[in-house]
Amino acid sequence: MEDYSMQTLISAEVIAKRVHALGQEISQHYQGRKLCVIGVLKGSFIFMADLIRAIDIPCEVEFIGVSSYEGMQSTGHVRINYDLSVDIEGKDVLLVEDIIDTGSTIDYLLKTLQVRNPASLKIACLLSKPEAHQITLLIDYVGFEISREFVIGYGLDLDGLYRNLPDLKQMLPKA
Ligand code: IMP
Ligand code: MG
Repeated sequence: MEDYSMQTLISAEVIAKRVHALGQEISQHYQGRKLCVIGVLKGSFIFMADLIRAIDIPCEVEFIGVSSYEGMQSTGHVRINYDLSVDIEGKDVLLVEDIIDTGSTIDYLLKTLQVRNPASLKIACLLSKPEAHQITLLIDYVGFEISREFVIGYGLDLDGLYRNLPDLKQMLPKA
């Protein structure tokens, strides 16, 4: 890790404003309905906690656990290691992800959840790396678009660490 330095990419204040705006947009879209919000573990847990408090319609809170990353490279192999505790049939579902990189995790989750017949299924992600997408995706709510840099903090990890940093930080190779 001594070959990398950390630099703030998006501050906690900027994140808070954007997450609040996303919550309002989501509340307006689902006005008069209730929502089943599913956070993708572990990376989404802080975004999820802030986002649901910015949503002012009734929300059911669920989590699904997947793993696909080792170090700074996506392995492309996605597996569920923790499943939902409720049936989502007939429900309006919002899948909450920390970051969409190649798109393989979200693609796998969409396919896995769609066969359970939700009334609707949308995606909210804090970050998206459009240049890295290997699958054409329609992402309904995006916090910030970034380039290919590896980021940590606000829930995002590097090999399990740094999720507790309040800002989003970029890992930069040292010159
Ligand atoms: P994808 O399947 O390639 O889209 O990767 C999605 C998952 O990889 C995310 O849910 C994250 O857990 C992880 N990931 C992708 N990019 C980053 C990053 O820059 N920092 C930390 N985790 C990342
Ligand atoms: Mg991760």
